[in-house]
Amino acid sequence: MTIDKKFIDKFVKITSKAALASSYLIGKKDKIGADKAAVDVMRVELNKINMTGEVVIGEGTLDEAPLLFTGEILGTRNGPSFDIAVDPVEGTNFVANNLPGGIAVLAIAEKGNLFNAPETYMNKIATGKIDKGLIDLDYPLKKNIKNLSKFKGKEISSLTVCVLDRPRHKKIIDELKDLEVNIKLITDGDVLGALYVSDPKYKVDMFIGIGGGPEGVLAASALDAYDCHFQGRFIFDKKTDIDEARSMGIKDLDKKYELNEIIRGDSIFCATGITSCDALKGITINKDKFLSETLVTHKDTNFKKIVKSNNPINE
Ligand code: FBP
Repeated sequence: MTIDKKFIDKFVKITSKAALASSYLIGKKDKIGADKAAVDVMRVELNKINMTGEVVIGEGTLDEAPLLFTGEILGTRNGPSFDIAVDPVEGTNFVANNLPGGIAVLAIAEKGNLFNAPETYMNKIATGKIDKGLIDLDYPLKKNIKNLSKFKGKEISSLTVCVLDRPRHKKIIDELKDLEVNIKLITDGDVLGALYVSDPKYKVDMFIGIGGGPEGVLAASALDAYDCHFQGRFIFDKKTDIDEARSMGIKDLDKKYELNEIIRGDSIFCATGITSCDALKGITINKDKFLSETLVTHKDTNFKKIVKSNNPINE
């Protein structure tokens, strides 16, 4: 079974509307408000779709989030069954502070095919398509860099690695500096950070480091359509996280997940720009219409495109 391509337009509309709602809070120093605006719209719009959609990655558990909580069933319940992963605003700091890179994100897979990720950190590595066994989360960084340089036929000094700028990444950043690799530091937004490896136009050869687990699953959903390499390992260092993992049925807490263990089968991924960045233009309002740009992938039809939409604001 695959996901009918008629759903592409519907989901693009949803992330576009969520991005519009959040865009009214650009630069208002209100991370929670910017997120809430997108959450509300995304939920209302998802509920209009003819599907039975279960949120497997959302705003948290029912105790933490009244809307888009993990396990919530959305849609008219009249249509195919999907797993849904949402990040209504990925990069809340970017939106609150009017910085590039805020996006509204949604991924859909056939029921049972999207990993139900705990709300913990994940150690991640991503590259474009490579030979099996070439790059591994468990190899020393130097080995991964050397292997990638050889595989791509590029000098180490002309490789670019994207890393979240966090004190926890000091060792990685120091090693990359010693190797004379070009470092692309991002202050937030590691869904886009990981997605940069999908296309040479972004000039990023590898993404590495620790970020949100749910963000890792979302990135993997898109990278799958590009045939990219991705591995992730959750980090459970608090008792509450360990308990949550166990209650979700995760037995091996040290397991390294390959991309096809995170997402399988057909999927649709949509990320709409809220604030503009290199990859996507943000929302522009033009009288009673708004323009949006959405990065869309649909695995089955090999659809990978930036879709520009021009929709009425009050539709
Ligand atoms: P939010 O949009 O939820 O604020 O997340 C932004 C983000 O940068 C993610 O892209 C990333 O995975 C995570 O935060 C990193 O977490 P931390 O800021 O704790 O290092």
